[in-house]
Amino acid sequence: MKKTILVTGGAGFIGSHLVRRFVKKYPVYRIINLDKLTYAGNLENLRDVEQNRNYTFIKGDINDTAFIDELFASHMFDAVIHLAAESHVDRSISGPMEFVNTNITGTVNLLNSARIRWKEETGSKLFYHISTDEVYGSLGEEGLFTEETAYDPRSPYSASKAGSDHMVRAWYHTYGLPVIISNCSNNYGPNQFPEKLIPLAINNIKNNRAVPVYGRGENIRDWLYVEDHAAAIDLLFHRGQSGRTYNVGGNNEWRNIDLIRTLCVIMDKKLDRPPGTSEKLITFVKDRAGHDLRYAIDNSRISRELGWKPSVSFQEGLEKTVDWYLDNEKWLKAVISGEYKSYYDKQYLER
Ligand code: NAD
Ligand code: TYD
Repeated sequence: MKKTILVTGGAGFIGSHLVRRFVKKYPVYRIINLDKLTYAGNLENLRDVEQNRNYTFIKGDINDTAFIDELFASHMFDAVIHLAAESHVDRSISGPMEFVNTNITGTVNLLNSARIRWKEETGSKLFYHISTDEVYGSLGEEGLFTEETAYDPRSPYSASKAGSDHMVRAWYHTYGLPVIISNCSNNYGPNQFPEKLIPLAINNIKNNRAVPVYGRGENIRDWLYVEDHAAAIDLLFHRGQSGRTYNVGGNNEWRNIDLIRTLCVIMDKKLDRPPGTSEKLITFVKDRAGHDLRYAIDNSRISRELGWKPSVSFQEGLEKTVDWYLDNEKWLKAVISGEYKSYYDKQYLER
């Protein structure tokens, strides 16, 4: 095997697409997927590659310092691609501590073990940290986030991701650990846990339940199909420059309400319902606390320097996503467990 790569959070939404891509595309890499399997991690996401000889799953917690250090001592990792995180803003508002623990302390555990265990070989290694555009805060109607935009996180989630980004840069400057950070906009696609806007709306429309739109639905997000993100990570892993940050985004800004209406049209068509049926389910609910108005990425660095661009149009990506959720009823039922239901009820019944 040419490289042994530790992928953290590989059983989650983006992680599973990345693991699948690497396992299939690079048989000479050994991919070790470390995941705690929280409510968001699901090994069903990787059924199709779990028998591949270059793939191994390890269940474990990045917050467990001794376990992480032992893992680095017993495996000769050439690189880490770090995706494990608590990732949902609403959960970070109701329970911020888990976000501090996993996103900050967990990241420091990995950085520290990499620094200590890689020792003088550090030069040939890479610690690639996957982050979010939310670290930059909230835009007004104008402007885009560039890699030079000052950090201004406003939710416990984005603040914890910003904290982890700072730690990664500190390990680069202080200890010389080779690092790359990419900050990506909102992803969507198959296998996303149905607490996030798009899969939640698909699931509710399918079941004729209200589709909760926060505030007036005027907040704007820049959407990217998850496989385009995985392609960007692949490119940056192989050709990104150590110490550098790259923004990744779809040039695809949508107001939430317009996005949901577009989704309703697609759902009516796919479910053979009369036009306008799904739209009636839209329900405006109390706004999220500290709700960031707008995110939008300037992706000119990765596109100019490395030639990356999104390949899936939003219409095509949404249709593929809807098809996947409609075809994967079993997956959806399995992830909507008791724990999720009680979270969901608490989240929305109070609104
Ligand atoms: P996700 O919530 O779907 O998956 C997170 C994974 O991490 C899960 O498999 C979970 O079990 C695992 N995990 C959580 N805590 C862990 C711990 N303590 N130890 C080990 N594993 C643990 O998240 P996602 O949407 O796939 O996001 C992946 C990464 O990409 C995150 O770092 C997130 O901040 C970042 N990101 C996400 C988006 C997005 O739109 N989803 C956009 C930009 C960046
Ligand atoms: P989300 O998918 O949680 O991603 P993020 O908060 O990280 O951007 O939410 C996307 C947008 O949709 C955000 O503006 C909040 C809004 N939203 C709703 O209006 N209703 C919902 O039920 C959810 C989950 C989100």
